[in-house]
Amino acid sequence: MATDLKKEAQDILNDNFQAGGYTIPCKGLYPFQWKWDSGFIALGFAHYDMEKAKAEMKTLLDAQWSNGFIPHIVFHQKSDSYFPGPDFHQAELHPLSNKQYPSTGMTQPPVLGFTLEKMYKIAKDKTDVLHFIKENIGRVYDNHNYFYKNRDPKNEGLVYIYHNWESGTDNSPLWDDIWETMNPPEYTFERRDTTHVDASQRPSKREYDHYLHIIDIAKEHNYDDAKIAELSPFLVQDPLFNAMLIKSNEALIDLYKIIGGNEDKVAQLEQWQAKSMASFNEKLYDNELGAYIHYDLRNERPIQFVSSSSFSPLFAGIPTKEQAATIIKTMMDKFGGDDMYLCASFDPTHERFNPKKYWRGPVWINLNWMLYYGLLDYGYDDIAARVKSDSIELLSKVGFYEYFNPMKAAYEVEQKGYGGGNFSWSAALYLDLINN
Ligand code: DGY
Repeated sequence: MATDLKKEAQDILNDNFQAGGYTIPCKGLYPFQWKWDSGFIALGFAHYDMEKAKAEMKTLLDAQWSNGFIPHIVFHQKSDSYFPGPDFHQAELHPLSNKQYPSTGMTQPPVLGFTLEKMYKIAKDKTDVLHFIKENIGRVYDNHNYFYKNRDPKNEGLVYIYHNWESGTDNSPLWDDIWETMNPPEYTFERRDTTHVDASQRPSKREYDHYLHIIDIAKEHNYDDAKIAELSPFLVQDPLFNAMLIKSNEALIDLYKIIGGNEDKVAQLEQWQAKSMASFNEKLYDNELGAYIHYDLRNERPIQFVSSSSFSPLFAGIPTKEQAATIIKTMMDKFGGDDMYLCASFDPTHERFNPKKYWRGPVWINLNWMLYYGLLDYGYDDIAARVKSDSIELLSKVGFYEYFNPMKAAYEVEQKGYGGGNFSWSAALYLDLINN
């Protein structure tokens, strides 16, 4: 069984890999290159085809803007199977955008630092991969520099996201109260996602109105960061995004130390790191909930909900031992019942939980993957083993889907996964999990 799944995972990645040197998340629904997908995908390739892993990283980095920004989607080719495409986003409005690669004007979680480090750890030919890292690490550093220079208006060491699509957790209930503060126009547009996937598993039309409206506001100001910080109705400090930045800072420090030299960059990274870690524990840890939470910078209020993002700081070594014990207890109490697969994307005890709808409850393999490594780092081997076996059981049961129902009872009714099928990061991270 395991061998077949391994072959199936590799076939999916190979099949989704495009002639241009990048991998689509899945056919139909997502026909371009996505930033955080690319990082996870490169890790999967690193286990059996390092040239493809390098190509994946390189095509994404080639689309970097001259201010260090890396977009969330690179539209390498034309496709009418996705909305909103390059004509809606108009990233070229930004004076420093990359005129060679059409893209969006928003970003996604900073996965590239820790991806490079994992590639190095996985590599059999370390000299070859180190050469690749030497050539490309500066571009990842520039991306971090972009974040700290442009996305931290109060100089807290915590960067903001200005769009829910930047979080990666696109339609999480976390954002519902922000939508309440907005009243976007009713857009007329043709959804494409719901021609590929059952509408009950995707965001609503009204949610899309909000998503498009935030982009329109950014476009009115040519995607200027200072204007966005001043005017965007969505401005959030996200623990998942910031944990990944911190994890990637650490990876860059480790890699620069292996490469040698670059003392100024190491010093800068260490400075960012110290400040980010301290602010993170001060501002994003909620004692009452026993979990990390998001902070709404626009409306100056904490977003007090527990989601799978609440546990992601484990992956970056942010919690103290005591905090780790508390958040893991919160996770097991709310998300860890015997009737559930770990780890639902939103608090299963909350009325906003929906086990079928995109980021409003289903299990996602990339969050499980981070959780697995985080739990191991803190010495919670048994719970880590459960996260791993739950993930593998889901993938074996229904295939390499995009997301999964966390309720075990659901599989007695129907054996199926949700969203896109033959989904690249589910395949890629499976290859990493079974190799650990
Ligand atoms: C989508 O179209 O749902 C994407 O996830 C946006 O990044």
